[in-house]
Amino acid sequence: MFYEPKKKNHGLAKNPFNSLVIPRPIGWISTVDPKGVLNLAPYSFFNAVCYSPPTVMFSAGIGSANDRTKDSARNVENTGEFVCNMATWDTREQMNQSSATLPAEVDEIALTKLTPVPSTMVSAPRIAEAPVHLECKYLKTVEIPGWNKTDIYKIIFGEVIGININDDFITGDGLIDIGKMKPIGRLGYNDYTKIDFDSIFTLDRPD
Ligand SMILES: Cc1cc2nc3c(=O)[nH]c(=O)nc-3n(C[C@H](O)[C@H](O)[C@H](O)COP(=O)(O)O)c2cc1C
Repeated sequence: MFYEPKKKNHGLAKNPFNSLVIPRPIGWISTVDPKGVLNLAPYSFFNAVCYSPPTVMFSAGIGSANDRTKDSARNVENTGEFVCNMATWDTREQMNQSSATLPAEVDEIALTKLTPVPSTMVSAPRIAEAPVHLECKYLKTVEIPGWNKTDIYKIIFGEVIGININDDFITGDGLIDIGKMKPIGRLGYNDYTKIDFDSIFTLDRPD
């Protein structure tokens, strides 16, 4: 089959796009607003995009607040800082709950009974239950216009200036124990995938 996304002529039960770029890592973004209100939300239009300096991005669609900006994007733009927490099998329910559409005054870290801990390099908190935290300094926003004139996607880029790794997930050989960490990834619809020992395989690269 072939379809043109703008014509929405896929003829399928649901828009398949989310099922075609998979699995997507989940940037579980923690921020703080200028008044000190903490915020947490998952973003699966998220990825690492450079090595040196390590750089990440997440893409925020239209928000429900008056400024039509999602809290995470607004907080990053206002404070210049954010943390990407790794979502895992153990925190999957809290990750999902933290995606609820809530007013900016609501602290989703408290709501989901997670534990905020101070970061080393940024004012945004880290989530203690996450095995990895990328502490990020805001670089820039790239705006992508949507199909509707009023729609805009804000792609937020940040340089990773500090990285915390829970030592329980570092092997004796000095490698990250991903099978033990069990990160989760986003598939299409409301489906997810879990990485564990059975789902990891190795390929040696050609010379
Ligand atoms: C797994 C998952 C991935 C999501 N990815 C995105 C995304 O990439 N971009 C986006 O705008 N919303 C995404 N959402 C929805 C946001 O998490 C949701 O709108 C949330 O309320 C935003 O919170 P904030 O306003 O506090 O930033 C996702 C939700 C889930 C459950």
